Amino acid sequence: MVPTYNEKENLDELVRRVQQACSSAGLSAEIVIVDDNSPDGTGARAEEIAKSENLKVVHRSGKMGLSSAVLEGFKTASGSILVVMDADLSHPPEKIPEMVSKIESGDADVVVGSRYVKGGSVENWPITRRIISKGATLLARWLTKVKDPMSGFFALKRSVIDGVLLDPVGYKIGLEILVKGKYAKAVEVPIHFANRKAGKSKLGGGEYLRYIDHVILLYEYRKPWLSKYIKFSAVGLVGAIINSAVLWTAYQIFSVPFVQAAVLAFCVAATSNYYMNRRWTYKSKGSLPMQYSQFFIVSVCGLVLNLIILIGIVEHAMPALDIGMDKASLYLVAANLVAIFVVSIFNFLVNSLWTFRHETRRK
Ligand code: GDD
Ligand code: MN
Repeated sequence: MVPTYNEKENLDELVRRVQQACSSAGLSAEIVIVDDNSPDGTGARAEEIAKSENLKVVHRSGKMGLSSAVLEGFKTASGSILVVMDADLSHPPEKIPEMVSKIESGDADVVVGSRYVKGGSVENWPITRRIISKGATLLARWLTKVKDPMSGFFALKRSVIDGVLLDPVGYKIGLEILVKGKYAKAVEVPIHFANRKAGKSKLGGGEYLRYIDHVILLYEYRKPWLSKYIKFSAVGLVGAIINSAVLWTAYQIFSVPFVQAAVLAFCVAATSNYYMNRRWTYKSKGSLPMQYSQFFIVSVCGLVLNLIILIGIVEHAMPALDIGMDKASLYLVAANLVAIFVVSIFNFLVNSLWTFRHETRRK
C-alpha cells in the first residue's frame, strides 16, 4: 500500500526496489498505489508502470489525506498480509521480506519498521525535527508498547483490521491500527529512515494539531474512565477559580456578607461546572433540568463531605499527631488538598453513575 501525492519522481525506483526485494526473497508482491489526483502526474505514471508490473492504481478525485488513502488501498489489495509504506523512499523496501516473514512464521501479527529500536536510525535530522518526533512519540506512550508508533512503515495480517472501525484522522494510521486493531503480538524491526529522494514533504503545520486531536481521541477510546476523570478534574479546577472570583467580587466590591457571598459563589461555580461537564466531559444531550438538579445535589453532598473530612483531620488527626497550632495552617492546606481529592473522586463517580449514567454506559 503506497499512498502518493506528487511522487512521480520516486515511483519508478520504488517499484523496482520493492519488486527486487520481494522476488529475491521468493515473495510475490502486489503493489497498490492510491493517488489523490497528484498535479505532477503521479497517477498517469503509475498507470504506465502497471502495464508491465503487478501494480494496481486507485485514483481519487483530490487530496483527501494519507490515512484514508491507506484504508482505500486495504480494500483494493487482494493479499492477506498488508504492508504500508511511503512512496518517497524514506522507508527501505529491502526490509519488506523480513517484516513479512515475521508474520508468516507466526512471530507477529503486526510488524513496525522502527527508527527507535536498537539498530534503527534517522538520516541527519535537524534537532527541531528530532524533538518534535520524540515529543509526538511520548504523547502516545500509554497507548501502545511499540517504540515507534508514528512510523508510516508497517506490515499486518488482514485479520487485525477485519471488522474494526478505523477513524482516519490525520497522518497516523499506523497508530490507529496499533490501538484499535485485533492482534496478540506487535514487534519492531529496526530501519534506517532516509531523507526523501525527490519532491517535498506534505506534512503541514495543521498536521500537528490534528495529531493532538487524534491522540486525545485514542486515549478516550482506550482509557474512557481515566480521560473522563481528567476532564472532570480540569472542570473542577476552572470551577474553583470561578468560585474564588465570584466570592472576592461579591464580598470586596459589592459588600455582600461573607456567608451569602460564599453561597452565591458556590452556586455560580456549580452551575458552570455542570454546564462544562455536560458539554465537554460527558457530551450529553439529556434532560437539562433533571441533570442540573442531580448535579447540584451531588455538589452539595461533595461540599459537606469536604467539610467532614477537613474537620475530622483538624479535630482528631492533628491533635492525635500532636501538631501544634504554629504549624497548623500548613497542615490545614494539606488536609484540604486530601479532602478535595477524595471529594473529586466522590463527585466524579456519583455524577458518572447517576447524573450522566446514560452517557457513561454508552460504549
Ligand atoms: N494519497 C495521498 N493523499 N497520499 C498522501 C497524502 C494525501 O493526502 N499526503 C501524503 N501522502 C503520501 C506521500 O506522497 C508519501 O508517499 C507519504 O504519504 C508520506 O508523506 P510525506 O510527506 O513524505 O510524509 P513525511 O515524510 O513528512 O512523514 C512520514 O514520516 C513520518 C515519521 O517521521 C510518514 O511516513 C508519516 O506517516 C510518519 O509518521
Ligand atoms: Mn516522507
